[in-house]
Amino acid sequence: MCGIVAYVGEQDALPIIIKGLKRLEYRGYDSAGVALLNDNGLSVYKKKGKVSELENSLLDNPHLNSKIGIGHTRWATHGEPNDANAHPHYSSTENFAMIHNGIIENYEVLKTDLLNKGYVFHSETDSEVFINFIEDIHKNNDCTLEEAVRLALHKVVGAYAIVIMSKEEPDTLIAARKGSPLVIGVGENEYFLASDATPIIEYTNQVVYLDDYEIAVIRNNKLQIKTIENVETNPYINQLEMELEAIEKGGYEHFMLKEINEQPRSIADCMRGRLDAQNGRLIVGGLRDYINKFQNADRIIITACGTSWHAGLVAEYLFEEFARIPVEVEYASEFRYRNPVINEGDFVIAISQSGETADTLAAIELAKSKGATIFGVCNVVGSSIARATHAGSYTHAGPEIGVASTKAFTAQISVLTMMALMLGYQRGTLSETKYIQLLSELEAIPSKVEKALLLNEQIEKISEQYKDARNFLYLGRGYNFPVALEGALKLKEISYIHAEGYPAAEMKHGPIALIDEEMPVVFIATKDSSYEKVVSNIQEVKARKGKIIAVVTEGDTSVKAMADHVIEIPHAHEALVPLISVVPLQLLSYHIAVMRGCNVDQPRNLAKSVTVE
Ligand code: M6R
Repeated sequence: MCGIVAYVGEQDALPIIIKGLKRLEYRGYDSAGVALLNDNGLSVYKKKGKVSELENSLLDNPHLNSKIGIGHTRWATHGEPNDANAHPHYSSTENFAMIHNGIIENYEVLKTDLLNKGYVFHSETDSEVFINFIEDIHKNNDCTLEEAVRLALHKVVGAYAIVIMSKEEPDTLIAARKGSPLVIGVGENEYFLASDATPIIEYTNQVVYLDDYEIAVIRNNKLQIKTIENVETNPYINQLEMELEAIEKGGYEHFMLKEINEQPRSIADCMRGRLDAQNGRLIVGGLRDYINKFQNADRIIITACGTSWHAGLVAEYLFEEFARIPVEVEYASEFRYRNPVINEGDFVIAISQSGETADTLAAIELAKSKGATIFGVCNVVGSSIARATHAGSYTHAGPEIGVASTKAFTAQISVLTMMALMLGYQRGTLSETKYIQLLSELEAIPSKVEKALLLNEQIEKISEQYKDARNFLYLGRGYNFPVALEGALKLKEISYIHAEGYPAAEMKHGPIALIDEEMPVVFIATKDSSYEKVVSNIQEVKARKGKIIAVVTEGDTSVKAMADHVIEIPHAHEALVPLISVVPLQLLSYHIAVMRGCNVDQPRNLAKSVTVE
């Protein structure tokens, strides 16, 4: 949460920072600010609201030329969203300004100490405490700012990605990270720092990913990286492969709609180079070095949050059916706090779009400390989770900017399906004939998703009828149960309509009491092994006058006779159906949210990358 950008070089810093902050707004969008340094000194400008509001407030200001600057877009943790709590924060002498993404857990102790020394605070944030703590060390130890930062980092507890600029060293940026991401773009006589590569990509494709406990000092156009023990390290320059167009809307009204529509391509990209159905070949390269551990695992533990957790639930069905290995799917936030039993024979799969989710990262560290093998399924290349795991596979869905996860979900399921098929085949629990059949069915999924996207207009019409509903139920069984959960999550997070997902059979154990003529119930009732049972559940809802919206397999007639609306999707093997059945649910939530006037890409209170626990 929170996005940070900084620039030092020969260009005008402000436009670069503002553009970068807009790209990072998915990380937080309740307030924004910049600090610039020129003949007028070190100035901080900040404002509650979106980056565009900050930008507008600066339009007539003639003092903004600067070759160096830092900027921040915030998702509030300490203190409500307002101008004062927005970043950057000055130190008390106003000699330093800092942007911070993360949380300082021991800030209260530090603050009390500083208050006793006479420091005055203008915000409620832990970040303002952090910069004053650095200033205090700088003053008392008569040391350089770099040294003061290093000493402070030994004392602060928590997570941070910070960038500091100083009046005393006008051509210097000092940055550091622990637990929150920080990427440094290396251009011609210029450097860009950001929470991810999207603000950097149009200027350079050479980047350095700062590691935990590292400090980057950019001084006199030279980058130096040191550990917090003051040992200099050699910056490793990575080549970014991201295309600029991948992070722009490309003619769509919202990123979410663009990303929903990208799924035929993103699923195909995910399978490219891994799946060759014609020749019966499937290789998930990331597993190569750990294949024995994977094949012989006593148990697979999947840990994730939100939508990624739903992908993990689908994977539970896949691994158990095809590879016959017991699977547990854990909310990362619960797993890490309940002293779970983890053994060396466990194979832990951590799923995360952003690769930065704090709870998932903490769960990984816990499992690692118990000797388990950890495999990451991440979308963001070079992210913290991708680097914290023993091995992993990228989902290759491309940047996902809409806060509601869509194409990342189907790409995660695609990777997990390939892993399950590969494992089942190699363990001998999946016959060759079935394996070959599933490989070609999997290869056909992108074109079936393409077909499902043609339902858009029909779904828009259905949305019109239900946009004012106050509650929704989503029901499915088997592979479609996690899809029901995902459909409900999509609707609630972007349209603010209360929605619940349930296994269809659980309805009669409680939720059935909610059914009346006001209650829309979305059934995912595709032709699979539990179809007949779901049909009975539909009848139960019908008998109580609930409104039925059913996602069915093309050509279905039984459900059509009962439902108020049927949405027909192409037939697929039931293990692969989630890749298709989720698409109409994504579209349904999208249209309802648009019709309700909601901010689809940046829903209230949320952020794309949840880097706080
Ligand atoms: O980046 P991650 O996949 O680790 O994020 C996990 C959740 O925060 C995320 O899936 C969240 O639930 C989405 N907003 C759902 O659309």
